[in-house]
Amino acid sequence: MSEIRNLINITDLTVEEIDGLIATADDIVANHSAYENICAHKKLATLFFEPSTRTRLSFEAAMLELGGSVLGFSSANSSSAAKGESVSDTIQTVGCYVDIIAMRHPKEGAPIVGAQRTTVPIINAGDGGHFHPTQTLTDLLTIKRKKGRLNNMTIGLCGDLKFGRTVHSLIEAMLRYEGIKFVLISPQELAVPEYIKEKMNAAGAEWKEVETLEEAMPELDILYMTRVQKERFFNEEDYIRLKDSYILDLDKLQTAKEDLTIMHPLPRVNEISVEVDDDPRACYFFQALCGKHIRMALILFLLGIKREA
Ligand code: CP
Repeated sequence: MSEIRNLINITDLTVEEIDGLIATADDIVANHSAYENICAHKKLATLFFEPSTRTRLSFEAAMLELGGSVLGFSSANSSSAAKGESVSDTIQTVGCYVDIIAMRHPKEGAPIVGAQRTTVPIINAGDGGHFHPTQTLTDLLTIKRKKGRLNNMTIGLCGDLKFGRTVHSLIEAMLRYEGIKFVLISPQELAVPEYIKEKMNAAGAEWKEVETLEEAMPELDILYMTRVQKERFFNEEDYIRLKDSYILDLDKLQTAKEDLTIMHPLPRVNEISVEVDDDPRACYFFQALCGKHIRMALILFLLGIKREA
């Protein structure tokens, strides 16, 4: 029997495996009909103990487009978690019904606990302020499609770099590529956690912290905006004080490169003005589409299914 693979952190995948997922995602677009029934009789459970639009629905759309079926819940309140059931009991039960599970949970490490109690692959669809590896795969596919490469570029990460799990996962992923420089744009209170800085230092990465978008803008190839994570704050006052720290508008883009790629994992609140949406450099809805393609590739990979040549 082959080993069960889970995706808890982006580093669970080798660079070669990520390259393979990107190649499959592109093949899915080029040869869509070859994938239409490839997951017939397979079932995906989406267990979302926290709200989501893109991650949950793109996973479900991905499985449906592969010819499989989906079941699950979209809030803890509509599952037996509301009656006090543990994560491990929920996962052990659902593992009896489906072939693969994508789960989101507010507690860091919950997907690891879940993975210990089932023999079906577990995908971490976001655990607290920790990691969001399928968003990172989405981001890597977006960057590859827009830039044609994943190395030799300057990436600005802006906003809530403390609680923003997408930022933590993306930095970890990009540390494995050559010639990446990180510009971390945040108020001091929302700076990247020390353990991420230690990882950047250990990898010998070039990085700096700045507090304004204006000073970073001219050198950036990628600008990755993020929302201030209201749900992770302990007090409302701090959230209100920090929530509009950065608002990207057309004025601020005046000093940006013409081929800048503007990304955002979404949902956005105020951090990108809607006037930016029509700028050709805005890629965040294209990014959401990439999320479906890469999740299709990931489901196939974890289920060990390949299309026939
Ligand atoms: N990017 C992302 O995780 O969006 P959702 O919270 O809507 O899934």
